[in-house]
Amino acid sequence: MRLLQNTFVGLWLASSVFAQLPGNGDPSLEVADWPPGPGSLLVPQQPDAELTAMMSQVDPARVQAIITKLVSFGTRNTMSSQTDPNRGIGAARDWIAAQMRTFAATSEGRMTVDTPSYIQAAKGSILFPTNISNVVATLKGSIDPTRIYVVSGHYDSRNSNVSDFTNDAPGANDDGSGVAVAMELARVMATHKPGATIMFAAVAGEEQSLFGSAFMASTLASDGANVEGMLNNDIVGSSTGDDGTKDPFTIRMFAQGIPPTETLAQIQSRVSIGAENDSPIRQLGRFVVEVASNPVTQMNVQMEYRPDRYLRGGDHESFLAHGYPAVRFTEPRENFAHQHQNVRVQNGVQFGDLVEFCDFDFNARVARVNGVALWSLAQAPGTPRGLTLDTSMLTNNSTLKWTPDPLAASYEVVWRASEDTMWTHVIPVGNVSSATILLSKDNVQFGVRAVGANGFKSPAAFQAF
Ligand SMILES: *[C@@H]1O[C@H](CO)[C@@H](O)[C@H](O)[C@H]1NC(C)=O
Ligand SMILES: *[C@@H]1O[C@H](CO)[C@@H](O)[C@H](O)[C@H]1NC(C)=O
Ligand SMILES: *[C@@H]1O[C@H](CO)[C@@H](O)[C@H](O)[C@H]1NC(C)=O
Ligand SMILES: *[C@@H]1O[C@H](CO)[C@@H](O)[C@H](O)[C@H]1NC(C)=O
Ligand SMILES: *[C@@H]1O[C@H](CO)[C@@H](O)[C@H](O)[C@H]1NC(C)=O
Ligand SMILES: [Zn+2]
Repeated sequence: MRLLQNTFVGLWLASSVFAQLPGNGDPSLEVADWPPGPGSLLVPQQPDAELTAMMSQVDPARVQAIITKLVSFGTRNTMSSQTDPNRGIGAARDWIAAQMRTFAATSEGRMTVDTPSYIQAAKGSILFPTNISNVVATLKGSIDPTRIYVVSGHYDSRNSNVSDFTNDAPGANDDGSGVAVAMELARVMATHKPGATIMFAAVAGEEQSLFGSAFMASTLASDGANVEGMLNNDIVGSSTGDDGTKDPFTIRMFAQGIPPTETLAQIQSRVSIGAENDSPIRQLGRFVVEVASNPVTQMNVQMEYRPDRYLRGGDHESFLAHGYPAVRFTEPRENFAHQHQNVRVQNGVQFGDLVEFCDFDFNARVARVNGVALWSLAQAPGTPRGLTLDTSMLTNNSTLKWTPDPLAASYEVVWRASEDTMWTHVIPVGNVSSATILLSKDNVQFGVRAVGANGFKSPAAFQAF
């Protein structure tokens, strides 16, 4: 029962109203009681042997080495030196690219490394024309190469002054931690063959205005690329908050409800069918919660029903701006004395984004969350397309139709009570392109997901409107 997620409400309900409801107040009966309906309770997909083995190779010591090396460049402010071999963003870019090339060398040609760049004119906190370079390792899919998933961190850093390109800006957590996720996954996945394509990106210019990710997303969009998911990692390197509390086994994931590309008319249609919690962004989020909260990652993925806790934005926004589903991971307990601060001691308090405040085991677990999600996406068929729900007949039956996908071996209808957050029930329907379910569309949300011959399931599609 969804209300029982809140213990207080649960206790109150168990002692009063809930005793009168079907299920008799036993929380273990939760989703089975109302509404009644066909299918079985959804059991989250678990990582298979290959994925489990791959994730065991994600190494906290390597995460530490990556972050320590990035910090050693002194500052990675976007306007810092492009040419100094030891200090500044150019040296960091060249080191990341060289590392990615050593990973690509193990891939039998599947992985390529590029450093696409452009010159950003002076604008806002960019004080003079500045070379914005991303580093992107692309692991080509072996079955469905034009379907793309992206994982990113930003390798630029900042101190208290976003335009200060000379003084130290260590950027260990913000966002050496996210770059470490992308690099470590590139390393362990390079020797494997994903079905779809995965891009591992370290982007620049985030702090000034998401310039690097905007460049990457707009390049993909102008190429007509089919990006079906983007995972942004920004500040994923510490489990300790500013009040000293620790939360080492939770990662927050910000997933926006209404895509920013929708027109007012589209938003009105969405709201008219109660789909405000069923955008492709939320389906991506649900998928990640389902596949990546398990003993392999040792993490609970906590989906936040808003774009970003403090509306600070991030590189996922650049992908959302082109209609691509994208989410942002951020540690659950933040310490703002270690973000966007000059390195200094003030009243006995150490400020600055220093390596000593990082938790490499936590950072490695976040990498595994990303790795399990990406691999599960890339091994599954794509999300079914063209899903419709027939609302013309006043019956208790609901008829769903979708476009057949040659890469799918079968399909599953998933459903949940309309006020639930996660899909709760699943009905295998075989290799068909329509299904009638004995369940009223007035009571529940329906989705359809594709299942590959390998058993991997796609994120759910929601009906078109
Ligand atoms: C940015 O700098 C890199 C490294 O020097 C260079 O290869 C690239 O051509 C530059 N980009 C532009 C658009 O000038
Ligand atoms: C921030 O740094 C830039 C570049 O050095 C400088 O021009 C600007 O005055 C600084 N701003 C503040 C508030 O110190
Ligand atoms: C609902 O679907 C079932 C199974 O297809 C069918 O037997 C039944 O007649 C349908 N009922 C209505 C009201 O459409
Ligand atoms: C439709 O379902 C409701 C319960 O949700 C039930 O009360 C009603 O009798 C059903 N109607 C038909 C025609 O099956
Ligand atoms: C699923 O059905 C489609 C359309 O009938 C067919 O082309 C495809 O070969 C079937 N796939 C499997 C795995 O049976
Ligand atoms: Zn950041």
